[in-house]
Amino acid sequence: MKITVKAPANIAFIKYWGKRDEKLRIPANSSISMNLSNAFSITSVDFDEKLKGDIVKIDGVLSAGSEKDRVARHLSLVRKISGKSYYAEVVSKNNFPKASGIASSASGFAALTLAASLSAGLMLSEKDLSIIARLGSGSACRSIPDGFVEWRQGSRSEDSYAYGLYPADYWNICDVIAIIGQTSKKVSSTKGHTLSESSPFYKARILGMAPKIREIKLALKNKDFTKFGDILEAEAINMHTVMMTSSPALYYWVPKTLEIILKVIEWRSQGLEVYFTIDAGPNVHIICEEKNVINLKSNLLKLGGVKEILINRPAVGARVINLP
Ligand code: DP6
Repeated sequence: MKITVKAPANIAFIKYWGKRDEKLRIPANSSISMNLSNAFSITSVDFDEKLKGDIVKIDGVLSAGSEKDRVARHLSLVRKISGKSYYAEVVSKNNFPKASGIASSASGFAALTLAASLSAGLMLSEKDLSIIARLGSGSACRSIPDGFVEWRQGSRSEDSYAYGLYPADYWNICDVIAIIGQTSKKVSSTKGHTLSESSPFYKARILGMAPKIREIKLALKNKDFTKFGDILEAEAINMHTVMMTSSPALYYWVPKTLEIILKVIEWRSQGLEVYFTIDAGPNVHIICEEKNVINLKSNLLKLGGVKEILINRPAVGARVINLP
């Protein structure tokens, strides 16, 4: 039965960097994110008894090698849970260009999990879907529930999953992504996680997590944008400090990244309340209230070197978009 699912990418305000269990993708800390309305994957899965092997097509290209193996392993997990042995055909498309440097693993594995489980005849709870998505890519577990999400670290596979803190329409803040570009990352986030502990600042980062998460959840509850922005911006720098001081060092920034960081701080001092956050890549996510999107966009357009601007509002999680 062919099932098609749309799942959003998400931006983490409190990041997942470092794992307690690499294989099970149990993170070193809990994380907080928002689903993105304008960065998503649409994936169909069809388990079919006539197939002689799994077929995976991403953005029109037949997958092979490690990319295909990672998807096939995920399909095998669903086969194991459902007791079905058929192979599947997976066709997935991202609305954002692969070369944009936006991670497609969160939206991709969230969509794959929901589509594959339904196609295999499983009716799973949101919690179980989140756990399975996590096994494909950690951040994918946060793209299953709606809106503003917390991934509770947990200590075992069964209690490490994401749940919705607030629905998508709770707060109209935006993530304006300044795409500077980059084809593929030199060091994948999966590899990067394994280096985190080699940073002398990693322990301090983890020790500070519990109070930081409490504070950002309070800011979210109170819709205190200034507090919220201060925390998420400091958190991004905290994670990148760990990345740059790990061994070997990881530099995901390019000069333009720092230029935009400094501009964000300058614009803020001039009264435009915007904050930055950055994942494992050079692109800058600028978080602002809806009322400031137009001014922010025109400021970004005046800078050279920004290839594309993607405006995201909070979005629902993974959803079936067609039933057979
Ligand atoms: C920097 O979820 O891509 O974006 O579990 O190995 O697939 P794997 O890692 P992944 O890591 C995301 C790291 C991050 C921060 C975040 O999204 O929380």
